[in-house]
Amino acid sequence: MNTVVQLENVDVYYGNMQALCNITLNIEARDFLGIIGPNGGGKSTLLKLIAGLVTPSSGKVWVLGRPPGHAPGKIGYVPQRFNLNREFPFSVLETILTGRLTKNNLFLHRYTAQDELAVNEIMRRLDIYDLKDRQIIQLSGGQMQRVLIARALVMEPEILLLDEPTACLDANSKSHIYSILKDLNQDMTIIMVSHDMGVISSHVKSLACLNMTMFYHGLPELNDTLLGQVYGCPVELIAHGVPHRVLPHHQEEVHV
Ligand SMILES: Nc1ncnc2c1ncn2[C@@H]1O[C@H](COP(=O)(O)OP(=O)(O)OP(=O)(O)O)[C@@H](O)[C@H]1O
Ligand SMILES: [Mg+2]
Repeated sequence: MNTVVQLENVDVYYGNMQALCNITLNIEARDFLGIIGPNGGGKSTLLKLIAGLVTPSSGKVWVLGRPPGHAPGKIGYVPQRFNLNREFPFSVLETILTGRLTKNNLFLHRYTAQDELAVNEIMRRLDIYDLKDRQIIQLSGGQMQRVLIARALVMEPEILLLDEPTACLDANSKSHIYSILKDLNQDMTIIMVSHDMGVISSHVKSLACLNMTMFYHGLPELNDTLLGQVYGCPVELIAHGVPHRVLPHHQEEVHV
């Protein structure tokens, strides 16, 4: 086994607020790990930890055998939210090209023909080539999301971190993205946060359930006991396109 991400007894605090508690997790190469859990459960924090954007308050984290943030170009990250600087007029092409920058070549980097080739190829693959000269502030939510995925992929990372990558996508775009991810997963480790239970259970190889602590890490087999533990409330599970409730309502639940 080749472990690419390793967390050992990790706590994360934001000031006095604890976001993650005693997380121990090993992720193997070429895994496709889905992370589910309620809002505020620490899913984005976990991805940021692996991306090196959040530091653990205690415990240890290794990514590709090194501390996080020390593997330039090897981690692709699609954040849940992308703060657009509206003063800065970037085209789609320029935005994706910035994915070819790493901490080591940030300054005085001139894009090479190889950079442009990689960008053109990824834009074609994600069906956004026709948008290449559009300003990113003009894009729709779903178009923007595909641009961000392209930007994360253009360096051909070893590990891809996706924070709700299909949240704004229509059904066709979603299945297109998942077929691309399946392809990429042949030689790339993918860690994906999603609220979409149907997608999670049918596309990932393993599953982690997170609500400050890790409730489960194993095969993607969801059951009512597990979901009840993680969410503490009923959850709709969409299986094969058919929604069904996997947990009974709590007696005290207020229907809205
Ligand atoms: N920069 C920050 N400063 C202070 N608190 C933060 C910060 N980022 C996250 N938090 C808090 O940490 C907790 C975990 O947040 P996180 O964004 O990781 O949750 P999440 O599982 O991704 O939620 P969601 O499903 O809503 O995206 C939340 O209570 C959140 O308010
Ligand atoms: Mg989040």
